[in-house]
Amino acid sequence: MDSKIIVSGMRPTGKIHLGNFFGALNNWLNLQNTHNCYFFVADLHALTTASDATENLTQNTLDMVVTWLASGLNPEKCTIFVQSHVPEVSELNTLLAMITPLGWLLRNPTYKEQLVEIFKKKYAGRLGDDKTAAEKLSMLTEKELSEIASFGFLGYPVLMATDILIHKATYVPVGQDQSAHLEITREIARRFNEQFNTDVLVEPKALFTKVPKVTGLDGRKMSKSYGNTIEVGEDIEVLRKKVMSMFTDPNKKRAADPANPEGCTVFTFHKLYNPGFEKRCQECRTGALGCVACKKELFEYMRPSFEDFNAKKQELLKNKTYLDKILKEGAEKARASAAKTLAEVKKAIRIY
Ligand code: TRP
Repeated sequence: MDSKIIVSGMRPTGKIHLGNFFGALNNWLNLQNTHNCYFFVADLHALTTASDATENLTQNTLDMVVTWLASGLNPEKCTIFVQSHVPEVSELNTLLAMITPLGWLLRNPTYKEQLVEIFKKKYAGRLGDDKTAAEKLSMLTEKELSEIASFGFLGYPVLMATDILIHKATYVPVGQDQSAHLEITREIARRFNEQFNTDVLVEPKALFTKVPKVTGLDGRKMSKSYGNTIEVGEDIEVLRKKVMSMFTDPNKKRAADPANPEGCTVFTFHKLYNPGFEKRCQECRTGALGCVACKKELFEYMRPSFEDFNAKKQELLKNKTYLDKILKEGAEKARASAAKTLAEVKKAIRIY
């Protein structure tokens, strides 16, 4: 086991779809075998944008942990915890907030993008789709702005930096959408070390792993907002229907027409689930295999991993005591690591 430390978190925003799975979780499953990993449910981060809608927070948090475990994340190999169970995070967050210039946060590109998203949810349709985030933002009055953005929301990157720096992460596996946040994390570490003439905080590196492109049922990017997802724990019959409804090459009108698998949604999934996908490709090109047969076969390749996941999930849901035990032990391990860094930070600041 490499002693290099990995930290990563996910916000508990409902179910995980295959895009999330292949984009992040699948990567975690590999990393747990080779690195010292801390994986957590970022429930505090969920509050930065949905502090008024917490009715599903508990369930979403538990669901997320169940999804991780049923997918193969192993608490013997990595530390699994809930962010808010580690109060040291909130304490370090306060301290790092003191040295983070406001300008870094106001300039953070995701700040503007997310603001517009929140605003759209509240006042659907008021802003046209033909404008950039900055333009839309400039259409809002000062009052509207100050009402939608909370102090905690502006501080999102500081909290994320805290998650990472508190365990002295070497690497952070993140998607491109999070790279601006990771850059702020590095800047906060650098600034802290310079300001207090110390090397307590470690500048983490982004770990961009090559992830397969996961398209949705309609061929667009898989996304909850497009309604084209397949959930990780999809019911088998729903999965069957979804696979059978996938978009295919529009030029293939009859089963025996030759077609182009590139750009066919079914093919992108064959690539993920069928070890013999190249043969399928050939048969698609020559017209030897029709789309219906091709989809049926894909479904059979996908089915076992879904059945396996669903069975494990059912087991876990029955065993709340086990789940609580995992999270309790995870929080203890995370707190031990966090407390060490926090003590060093306080010492560097000269907090008495
Ligand atoms: N901001 C991340 C996301 O939305 C979640 C997150 C919170 C995170 N803290 C983190 C990711 C620390 C990596 C490391 O996906």
